[in-house]
Parts: sequence; structure tokens; C-alpha cells
Amino acid sequence: MLQKQNSKLFCFKEFANLDMSENADYLIKSMDVMSSLESIKAIKYRALDSMCLRPGDRVLEVGCGHGEDAEALGAIVGDTGSVIAIDASKRMIDEAAQRSTQSNVEYLQTDAYDLNYSDHIFSACHADRLLVSHEDYRGLFKEILRLIKQNGVVCFTDVDALSIILTPFNFITKIILEQIHKSFVNPYMGRILPELFIENGLREIKIIPETSMIRSFETLSEIFQFSQVADSAIEEGKLTRDLSSQWFKEMYQAEKEEKFLYCVTFFTVLGKIPNSPC
Ligand SMILES: C[S@@+](CC[C@H](N)C(=O)[O-])C[C@H]1O[C@@H](n2cnc3c(N)ncnc32)[C@H](O)[C@@H]1O
Repeated sequence: MLQKQNSKLFCFKEFANLDMSENADYLIKSMDVMSSLESIKAIKYRALDSMCLRPGDRVLEVGCGHGEDAEALGAIVGDTGSVIAIDASKRMIDEAAQRSTQSNVEYLQTDAYDLNYSDHIFSACHADRLLVSHEDYRGLFKEILRLIKQNGVVCFTDVDALSIILTPFNFITKIILEQIHKSFVNPYMGRILPELFIENGLREIKIIPETSMIRSFETLSEIFQFSQVADSAIEEGKLTRDLSSQWFKEMYQAEKEEKFLYCVTFFTVLGKIPNSPC
């Protein structure tokens, strides 16, 4: 059952149960908008490149979304390798399978909490923005690690929503930012990734912090449902409707004057499964 903090605030936690979300269309569109950004493409490219995969590798992609990373992984491991790409959402799996051009990528609708595979069968795993929507991110991470071979590569990217910079910055922006933080289950997921890798005994850990920047309020509105975010603040008595309208005008004006700025830090963390169980 999905739980919302208030009736207006849409939640990125709904990614954990996309097919049941009344905001599914919006969330899926937001994923496409994110993937189209040059800064996100660069973060994704660097993550996959840092995995140093080889032709013939068998890779698990978790929370594959529309399959962009799974397809890129398929191209890297070639005909002798394979990628199993899973997602809990049937909508995402159907969409990914339809977009797919790689014959060595198999898309499966499966919940990552319930991976029906034996231990240590994949040479590597990759996930981008999976743990951010899960309260039990530690349990989920452990379950995924179980499937990776000794010496196998683990690569997770996640956003650190608490690092968001939104300018023009004023007291209304501050309220909007607080509401945005609340729309994430783990707004600090990015910065927690390194300790998660350490706690689980991964070795040769590499941490890559990277910033994504957006200069258009219009584009950012396709990722954050600002009208809902502002309505939630109004509902909680933190903002009046007049102040909310004023804020929207200010943001559009700032965009026109090229003063609008949004930045957020993503962390990609890589590590290897130790030779003996930890
Ligand atoms: C924010 S999207 C990111 C999608 C993709 N990795 C990307 O970078 O574009 C998170 C994805 O993880 C999937 N997901 C969330 N929880 C999951 C779970 N427990 N098991 C499998 N997939 C899950 C969602 O359905 C969604 O497609």
C-alpha cells in the first residue's frame, strides 16, 4: 500500500511501486527527461565505463526502467555475454522490451527483493537510482550482492537530493526545497552509498561524485511536479497561494534572464565482491 505524507505531495517513493502509482505517467516521463540531459548521459557513461566489463560477462541490471543502461551493457558484453535486466514494473519492462535492439538483453518483470536466482551467478551488477526509493535499502543491496560472483563488479549510482541547489534562492524556494526533500524516501542516498559498500565488505571501492545541472525551470518542472509540490506546502500551511504564484513567476522570469540554476550531486560507487565471504 502506498503511503503519502499528505494528499498533494507526489513522491519519488512511488518508483518503488510504479504500476500502482497515480503519477506513473509523470514519473515515466520524468525518467525520459532525465535521460535526455547531457549531464546524466555523462554520469551514466562514466559509471558503465568504470565497470571495466569484458565481452562474455553476464550482467544483472536492477531497476532497468526503460532499458537505456541495459542496452549499453549489452553492447559492451557482446554476443558472448548477456544481460538480465529486471524491473518491478510491468509498464517499464514492456516499454524497455519494445525499445530494445540488443538480442543479448533479457527483460524480466521481477521485484529485486525476490530474486529467484542461485548465489554468485553474475559477473557484475549495475543499478541507477534504485535504492533512493527504498526504506530497506540495506536489505535490498544485500539481496543483490548475493547474486554476484567473487571478484565481480558492483556499480550503483544514486542521487543525493539533500545536495540540491535551486536559485533564485529565497524563503519560498527554501520551503519548496524542503517539500522536495520530503518527496524522497532517502534524500541522502547518494552520500550513504560509500558506507554501504564498506559495511558489506566490498573491496577496491571507487567513489565518483558528479553534478547534474539544469538551467531551465520548464525542463525541471518535467522532473519535479512543482504545482503539486507547491500545493502540498499550501496544504501544510507553509505557503499561501499568492506566494506560490509569486514564486512561479520569479522562476520563469529568472529563466528568461538566464539566472535560473538547479544542481544536484549524484554518487556512483563501484566495488568488488571479496574472494571469501565477509
Ligand atoms: C528512478 S527509476 C530509474 C530507472 C533506470 N535505472 C534509469 O536510470 O533510468 C527506478 C526504477 O527502479 C524500478 N524499481 C524500483 N523498485 C524496484 C524493485 N524493488 N525491484 C525492481 N525494480 C524496482 C522502478 O520500477 C523504476 O523503473
